[in-house]
Amino acid sequence: MPDVAESLVLALRDARRRTLALIDDLSDRQLEVQQLGMLNPLRWELGHVAFFFDANVLGFLDGTPPLLPEAVELYDSFRVDHDERWDLPLPSRRATLDYMRRVATAVERRVVECCTERDRYCYELALLHEDMHGEAFLTMRQVLGYPPPALPEPGPPRRPPVDAGPCPGDVHVAGGRFELGAHPGRPQFVFDNEKWSHPVDVASFAIARAPVTNAEFMAFVDDGGYACRALWSAPGWRWRCKHAIESPQYWSRDSGTGAWHRRVFDRHVPLAPHQPMVHVGYHEAEAFCAWAGRRLPSEAEWEMAASVNVSSGGKQLYPWGNELPPLPPANLDAALLGCVDVAAHPGGDSAVGCRQMLGNVWEWTSSSFYPYPGYVVDLPYREYSAPWFGYRKVLRGGSFATRARLVSTTYRNFFTPDRRDIFAGFRTCARTV
Ligand code: AVJ
Ligand code: FE
Repeated sequence: MPDVAESLVLALRDARRRTLALIDDLSDRQLEVQQLGMLNPLRWELGHVAFFFDANVLGFLDGTPPLLPEAVELYDSFRVDHDERWDLPLPSRRATLDYMRRVATAVERRVVECCTERDRYCYELALLHEDMHGEAFLTMRQVLGYPPPALPEPGPPRRPPVDAGPCPGDVHVAGGRFELGAHPGRPQFVFDNEKWSHPVDVASFAIARAPVTNAEFMAFVDDGGYACRALWSAPGWRWRCKHAIESPQYWSRDSGTGAWHRRVFDRHVPLAPHQPMVHVGYHEAEAFCAWAGRRLPSEAEWEMAASVNVSSGGKQLYPWGNELPPLPPANLDAALLGCVDVAAHPGGDSAVGCRQMLGNVWEWTSSSFYPYPGYVVDLPYREYSAPWFGYRKVLRGGSFATRARLVSTTYRNFFTPDRRDIFAGFRTCARTV
């Protein structure tokens, strides 16, 4: 088997092993949760991952009908709205797992037989799509208060960097012309919304070396930040009032000591002061910035701070360079199933000196999600980016739950500003330089 096909097959098996481990320990009852906001029924999500391969690999490349006749009516996320996904006549757990196996077998066979550039694009897209839903399964387990899953190690065991502590201060980044986006011709997968790099003029700025920590955010909370209208944007305040939000998601005060605790999966743990703030929505991030006299970075600023290397005269795919080692210096792959202190992984610093630009928490930027100039929608999955341009905000960098093979310094995630269930935090910039 050629190297490319072989490594693809291994990656596909790795992704599938992970997907199954994310639900394996759940009882049928735990799998059957009731309607939950923008999330998906777990059993639906399993079938959807298989259908994505069925439609966008087998169907798109070979014109074959779905391996489950009713799959289109059930699992096409663009046809079946979030609200409807809870009332579908979904196949049983067994039948769903069986469908997943049948599709996976057909896909593996095809990868071994055909692996042109076009084939590869479809395989990798479907692989990374499975990875994205893996993060969604973890999000779901956090939302529902389920225990963390037992995951297969993707490599040698990784030990948590113990008590790495805070990482205060800003780095100064000299402004200038910056090539935002993915360079054409790079060997790694590129999503349509990253195409292509194009010049933007960025003024000099100062950006925090690390994301905002729990201790920093707690100061905003304890100072009455959630009650102070002046700190919030109009949509932010409306959102805060509509949902009566008075403290961060999953935070509660210990009834005895009054100290803040945070729910992590099924456990309440004392707030770790130097871990990044996580499960924070865009509106709250913005209000914090107003309180602290700071601002969010634009996505161009974020990408510049993460990728520019003046000494090599170029831009790097990862903060630490252009290679992805088997054990990257970042908290990724759900290896630890939670956040680490913001000073951890100094070996992953970007050239300008920012820490944890990849991993630990997604970072909200001030930028709305729009196409880059000359955007062309990529097939086979037309609905990846195009339907979502406009209202959503761009997040960068990946969280502890993101697969390393998915993220880079050019990867753009995008969610509506109200989302607090995702593993998102933020870092801030100085208002003036
Ligand atoms: C890129 C994470 C915003 O979850 O809506 C999954 C990923 N697209 N299935 C999402 C996605 C289709 C997408 N995000
Ligand atoms: Fe999907």
